[in-house]
Amino acid sequence: MPYTVPKLDDFSPAALDAAGRDLLAAVRQEAEAVSGENDYKNFRDRWMARKNGVLTQINDLWLKAAPGPAKRDVGARVNQLKTEVEQIVEKRRLWVLAPTITAEHPGIEIPAQDWERYIKDAQLLGQKIDITLPGIRRPMGAEHPVIRTMNEVIGVFRAMGYSVAEGPEVETDYFNFEALNFPPNHPARDTQDTLFVAGQEKKAQRDRLLLRTHTSPVQIRAMLDTPPPIRVVAPGKVHRADTADATHSPVFHQVEGLAVDTNITFSDLKGTLDHAMKSLFGSSMKTRFFPSFFPFTEPSADVSITCFKCGGKGCRLCKMSGWIELLGCGMVDPNVFKFVESNGYDSQKISGFAFGMGVERITMLKYGIDDIQLFYQGDVRFLEQFA
Ligand code: PHE
Repeated sequence: MPYTVPKLDDFSPAALDAAGRDLLAAVRQEAEAVSGENDYKNFRDRWMARKNGVLTQINDLWLKAAPGPAKRDVGARVNQLKTEVEQIVEKRRLWVLAPTITAEHPGIEIPAQDWERYIKDAQLLGQKIDITLPGIRRPMGAEHPVIRTMNEVIGVFRAMGYSVAEGPEVETDYFNFEALNFPPNHPARDTQDTLFVAGQEKKAQRDRLLLRTHTSPVQIRAMLDTPPPIRVVAPGKVHRADTADATHSPVFHQVEGLAVDTNITFSDLKGTLDHAMKSLFGSSMKTRFFPSFFPFTEPSADVSITCFKCGGKGCRLCKMSGWIELLGCGMVDPNVFKFVESNGYDSQKISGFAFGMGVERITMLKYGIDDIQLFYQGDVRFLEQFA
């Protein structure tokens, strides 16, 4: 027996409950029975047709017939029933449509819990669905090559027991120069090299702010933080008043290293850096140390590695020397320890080494990049080669 809307003479909540239950049971049962598209249309019209659909009938037979005091309650119930019936009908519509889509695209299976959403999306967009089209994919980001090298260098030293320290990019003259044993009129303090923060003239020289020219001030900060023994690497951004060209940039990156303990010798420095270079560039890489000068290390050295273009034979890249200069290093100058004496750094009892390397330079050599500016231009075609 198909469902027919009954006339009501009892408008008590209990009677309305029962009538509502019957109606919903009927619409659910009929929905179940709907199979094809024509079937669906009949079903929809039977329930929703403006003219004499079931929903219109309950409006007439229940709501309009309700006595004054019951109108409010009956109205709310009728509205609720309308919403529920509409949802049941819509659900059935999607259910009927789904096989058509899968049939048009054999081989594609839309999981039952998804097809409703697929169809809804397409309707919202007012489009026919072509679920074989690829989705909109957001390109994956990737580490910048400079950061990547930095992390590789850090990884090599972490594996040797080093921890990571950081310091501010806006430094005081004290940490950037004075505590690192730069004499008062050392050329490195010159406006040629250092970018000073303006308006600092009233301050004492040691308190004046500048953009750090190297990561070496982190050596001092780390030693003030941690008594010996200490092993840290300090990666970061540094600034110099250089005009940009293929090998210079006013902003670049360094990784600093510092190891202080009892009986640290120059051999430890050589062994450590030789190992690090082999880890970074391959085990056949050789290192060469030759004398240099830094105010905060004594003795100081520059380190070269085998030219990877020619393998040491001599070529244009290494200016026929077979070697490529890569970093600065040395044994921590006892004068530097004086500035951190209060934290247990007694140059009579301890010794240490430090080193600093330019991350862009390492990256350029590693990947054969000939212009440092490429790192900062943000050209995706360049960057995605490293992804
Ligand atoms: N800070 C030096 C520079 O920027 C490099 C360096 C670090 C040298 C530590 C020796 C020890 O050139």
